[in-house]
Amino acid sequence: MFETVTPPEPDKIIRLMGMFAADPRADKVDLGVGVYRSPEGKTPVMAAVKAAERAIWERQETKGYVALTGDPGFLDAMRRLVLGDAVPAARVAGAGTPGGTGAVRQVLETVRRLRPDATVWISDPTWPNHPAIIDHLGQARRTYRYYDAATGGIDRDGMMADLAGVAAGDVILLHGCCHNPTGGDLTRGDWEAVAGLCQRTGAIPFVDMAYQGFGAGLEADAEGVRVLAAALPEVLIAASCSKNFGLYRERVGAVLIVTGEGRAQAAAQGVLAGMNRQNFAFPPDHGARVVQDILSDDALGAMWREELEGMRRVMEGNRAALAAALREATGSDRFGFLGAHRGMFSLIGASPAQVETLRETHGIYLVGDGRMNVAGLTAAAIPRVARAVAEVLA
Ligand code: LMR
Repeated sequence: MFETVTPPEPDKIIRLMGMFAADPRADKVDLGVGVYRSPEGKTPVMAAVKAAERAIWERQETKGYVALTGDPGFLDAMRRLVLGDAVPAARVAGAGTPGGTGAVRQVLETVRRLRPDATVWISDPTWPNHPAIIDHLGQARRTYRYYDAATGGIDRDGMMADLAGVAAGDVILLHGCCHNPTGGDLTRGDWEAVAGLCQRTGAIPFVDMAYQGFGAGLEADAEGVRVLAAALPEVLIAASCSKNFGLYRERVGAVLIVTGEGRAQAAAQGVLAGMNRQNFAFPPDHGARVVQDILSDDALGAMWREELEGMRRVMEGNRAALAAALREATGSDRFGFLGAHRGMFSLIGASPAQVETLRETHGIYLVGDGRMNVAGLTAAAIPRVARAVAEVLA
């Protein structure tokens, strides 16, 4: 079966992970894949996660199946985390998934089944797996302008002008916070404008929430999705616990669908259950249980929030320190946007050739579109990275 097959190329993020691992240089700097690192360069297991895991180990007496959509307690905790009290619980259907990517896949597959003729609109640029999954499913897609490379900010006029072309039933994919790869986020006013556009056109927003807590804070990062949920009849959401709980390899994610109370909610719940059954049957439980326990226990929840806020501040500090070092190295405010961006990522405006020089000559790894993961910076690396970026992007 495989003799004549050409396997798919890994995407640029996965490819870079392999190149970094194979680089023997001791002073190489990984600013590629979106993984948080402490000032010591570690991706630690959070203390609240350790405590929850210990308690689960002590009390858990079975590894029997739970339910096709996962534990209802986990889904309720995720609903509260993401949506707060923006909509009544009776309007929300939910399903556990293997990670945030699993949630993205299940949402897009739902669209494929129920609205095969819809176009999915994605930001230009976006996370490479968004178009890859849409193409794999055979759904039509179009891009909307998002990023203004000249200012490092949002091209809101271009975005709204492009989105004026949506048809009823089309799906608009938005990043809930910490836009990947640009680092530029929508303001509350922008979210309200998107809600108004969806009300006028009948388009359905799909919010990918992969970094809640990494941007402006847990509640502030959810402001946009809550604006949409409160204003619209239907919102599709993919949430990830990989980053904010540091549970990358445990694969913890959830689909949340905001819809009408009663029949529509029950139907959405049934669709999600059926799709989980066909794709992987039951979602992974261990990491989801850790999240559920942390979010339903006051002491563990407080411990987690404090750790998460600490991580957010480390990234904010890295941004400020790099922006300052670049100001000094370039004698200009050209990279000042780094301090204004939120979350792990920023596009630094490097061409593919400049990204290659940074990697080959300086051992500094960025994704090929010039995306930098600021969480990969350490105090020791910042001056060197600033010098190299100033030199290569001069
Ligand atoms: C990233 O964008 O680097 C992360 O979301 C990891 C991934 O799966 O691509």
